[in-house]
Amino acid sequence: MPWDPILFRNHFPFFSNDLDITYLDNAATTQKNIETINSLSFFYSHFNANVHRGAHYLSIKATELFEDARNKIQHFINAKNSNEIIFTKGTTDAINLVAFSYIEQFCKSGDNIITTPIEHHSNFVPWQLAAKRKDLELRVIPFNTNNYTLDLEAFKKLVDNNTKIIAITQVSNVLGIATPVNEIIQFAHSKNIPVLLDAAQSFPHMPIDVQQLDADFVSLSAHKFYGPTGIGILFGKEKWLAAMPPYQSGGEMIDQVSIDHTTFNELPFKFEAGTPNYADAIAWGATIDFINQCDKNLMFGYEEELWNYAYQKLSSLPFIKIFAIPEQKHYGALSFLLDGIHPYDAATVLDELKIAVRVGHHCAQPLMSILGVSGTIRASFAPYNTKDDIDKLVEGLKTVYKFFNKNK
Ligand code: ALA
Repeated sequence: MPWDPILFRNHFPFFSNDLDITYLDNAATTQKNIETINSLSFFYSHFNANVHRGAHYLSIKATELFEDARNKIQHFINAKNSNEIIFTKGTTDAINLVAFSYIEQFCKSGDNIITTPIEHHSNFVPWQLAAKRKDLELRVIPFNTNNYTLDLEAFKKLVDNNTKIIAITQVSNVLGIATPVNEIIQFAHSKNIPVLLDAAQSFPHMPIDVQQLDADFVSLSAHKFYGPTGIGILFGKEKWLAAMPPYQSGGEMIDQVSIDHTTFNELPFKFEAGTPNYADAIAWGATIDFINQCDKNLMFGYEEELWNYAYQKLSSLPFIKIFAIPEQKHYGALSFLLDGIHPYDAATVLDELKIAVRVGHHCAQPLMSILGVSGTIRASFAPYNTKDDIDKLVEGLKTVYKFFNKNK
């Protein structure tokens, strides 16, 4: 049986609100399914109490639900142990944790960090700041803009005895292409270098098995895959997390505090200072239950079909430049420009037509710079989108083009 986007869409109240919006900004955030929304509301209405802090029924129940959510995400990404799952505000928070804590413990002046120029700023700026703070070198793997691939031979030459970590996205948020993470992880591990994988844009579009990937750290956000905002995780192999100092300090991350000394809690709590965002974590558990009921092969296959349809339709427009190599597999995002029209101008007209896409640099200015543009228009898809949504986008782009060329 093929994937039914309408059946799936019926789980998302946003689409039954008669807003008549063609929502193609899923790489920025997805809409939320009713099970997630109900879970959040039900929790606040019935069980709200602070977690890991109370001896009363409600606190114990909330703690159980919160830890249950941790177990769900652990199994979803196939982590070995739930203590390798640190709840964070999202991807950015997770990467900042590593860029502070790992770097503090393992790096000294003269060491280097390797990343790529296709990262979103969350996986670039924290490393740049860490490099400045600790007098490290930030090395960047060359990206070939003719075939949209990272230069793996150049990467191998960048690695030396002072390379302390490699931070790389699994899927580009602008181009939707995957990076060769298996080759990079294998090579890095042959030199005993850990790899942080930013899965913010891959997690909604492919199965993630952290043991199979053998990544040392993985960052991701719930909100890009139907879950609530303000919650995500850092997965870290226990051997690294155990050796790293706390990132933030305060309640719950401690073991004993005296006037002049503090010892720290065990994993994962050592990295969860303060009251965690437990309500959203619990609602995320409901999101995961919902996703687990879907046939992921069908869902991901349908997304690929949508992308291919969009590419085929958009490439038939004579006034478009698409930033894609169609032979490559794409995950959710399609970037393009209209001849002679600034992306922000295009977005204004598309917005009038109730078509939601993202425009601008997409928090990926180093990539914009090597592509030689200041920004792009990006349409990004989820399995509740239909070919009809893409047809509306195509008609919208024709209107935009006519609007800005009416006097020519
Ligand atoms: N990183 C998100 C995006 O690509 C916000 O839109």
